[in-house]
Amino acid sequence: MSFADRIQNADLHTKIMSAEQAAALIPIGANVGMSGFTGAGYPKAVPQALAARLAELHAAGQTQARIGLWTGASTAPELDGALAQAQGIEMRLPYQSDPTCRKLINAGQMLYTDMHLSHVAQAAWFGFLGKLDVAVVEVVGILPDGRLIPSTSVGNNKTWLDQADHIILEVNLHQNPALAGMHDIYYGTHLPPHRQPIPLVKTSDRIGEPYLQCDPAKVIAVVITDHPDRNSAFDAPDEVSSHIAGHIIDFLQHEVKAGRLPPELLPLQSGVGNIANAVLAGLNQGPFENLTAYTEVLQDGMLDMLRSGKLSFASATALSLSPDAAAEFNSNIDFYRQRIVLRPQEISNHPELIRRLGVIAMNAMIEADIYGNVNSTHIMGSSIMNGIGGSGDFARNAYLSIFMSPSLAKGGQISSIVPMVSHHDHTEHDVQIIVTEQGLADLRGLAPTQRAKLIVERCAHPSFKPQLLDYMDRARHSGAGLHTPHLLDEALSWHSRYLITGHM
Ligand code: COA
Repeated sequence: MSFADRIQNADLHTKIMSAEQAAALIPIGANVGMSGFTGAGYPKAVPQALAARLAELHAAGQTQARIGLWTGASTAPELDGALAQAQGIEMRLPYQSDPTCRKLINAGQMLYTDMHLSHVAQAAWFGFLGKLDVAVVEVVGILPDGRLIPSTSVGNNKTWLDQADHIILEVNLHQNPALAGMHDIYYGTHLPPHRQPIPLVKTSDRIGEPYLQCDPAKVIAVVITDHPDRNSAFDAPDEVSSHIAGHIIDFLQHEVKAGRLPPELLPLQSGVGNIANAVLAGLNQGPFENLTAYTEVLQDGMLDMLRSGKLSFASATALSLSPDAAAEFNSNIDFYRQRIVLRPQEISNHPELIRRLGVIAMNAMIEADIYGNVNSTHIMGSSIMNGIGGSGDFARNAYLSIFMSPSLAKGGQISSIVPMVSHHDHTEHDVQIIVTEQGLADLRGLAPTQRAKLIVERCAHPSFKPQLLDYMDRARHSGAGLHTPHLLDEALSWHSRYLITGHM
């Protein structure tokens, strides 16, 4: 595809400029909605040019020179990293996983609103987040009428394009033009009190349009780039993650035998990261055929499963591939276009659809407590790691809600099973299955004290079991309420005990 083919709207040719010129059009203090979801489809050049401009202003004494940064989810060093290093972000939402952002947030130097990813579009439509001034969106191409061919993620782009006063487009020549047709952008009625049911009943249903609508009159700049996505490699599954995968596969087989799941299971949602990828690798070798996925992110494991035929169709909002998987995806894009659809994140993560489809949600966690409450976001109760992402969208509405973690963290010094989580993301009401490499606890239908017994028995590491059993025993005999027995002082000091004894 030639350069002119990428930008087919003649008027927009006049808006082509450098990233520096485009960045200069973003007002200081603006709220900027950028594309990007798990390192895919984020703008590559304008954020870096904006960061350089903000850094210069800071050097000249304008230390308040910052923007509000909204995205789909996490991005990459060229976006989050560059703007954070320039101290250029006042408020970040709805998700990040960048080391510099994390440091600034935990040092109290950057504000962060950690949101359920399905909530963001509605919050923006109704102005809960303030005014969106500028959208900066990576696209694959621009059609004659101004509609846009989306890139490797959809995320919140539809909302940013609708809501922003001004739009800057990055046309990334590196992204494959054959991505066209892989997207499904739903423009149905979505605002209460006129909200209609979303007409999606199968993971493969197409309910929208392949392109993003965009008013060319709002476009103030078009920047040409030619850069790959972040494309981080995954670790090969290790012993711990392979054991976790094995427990989940055994459990799913058991559920099929018990008649609680069909042989092809129900649509899978898989969180991001190495453990999630190991579970997918396990499923690819496992006994199930003709699986489907209704998920947020497609990573290498799902691509492998599509190729092997184990997975027949996958719906997501973004790709998150290693360099090798990205190359393979691009060489066989016609095959994948028949089997993948990318949707806006308010649809990929929509509670109505997750509940209707009966999704099996599998997400990683930082820690779980003996009663089944889960912390996905905070280390020692006060320092953010990444954010809740889509885990809450899926966990609360799934048919089966599974959380997984190694039983130990920090080289074995910390137990991921604790008396009381140091931060609550998913309550006991949203968590059905907990898995570590030690085993799997099926909490469905159990009372808190039954859950505690099972979680410690099945999931805690042997080196921490005696302490946890002792805690449960003393809590039961302490005169505390016997529904969810706790020794509050001790439960709350469990984590600081690690700090005091040098475990952190
Ligand atoms: N106590 C202290 N630190 C802990 C810990 C615990 N119980 N459990 C994990 N950690 C630390 C690890 O040591 C590691 O720290 P490091 O980066 O300094 O080495 C870090 O947390 C990440 O843990 P890791 O074991 O590498 O797991 P991961 O990469 O699989 O990430 C989550 C796990 C929970 C942080 C990650 O899955 C996440 O952010 N989840 C929330 C969002 C989500 O679920 N998204 C998917 C929805 S679609």
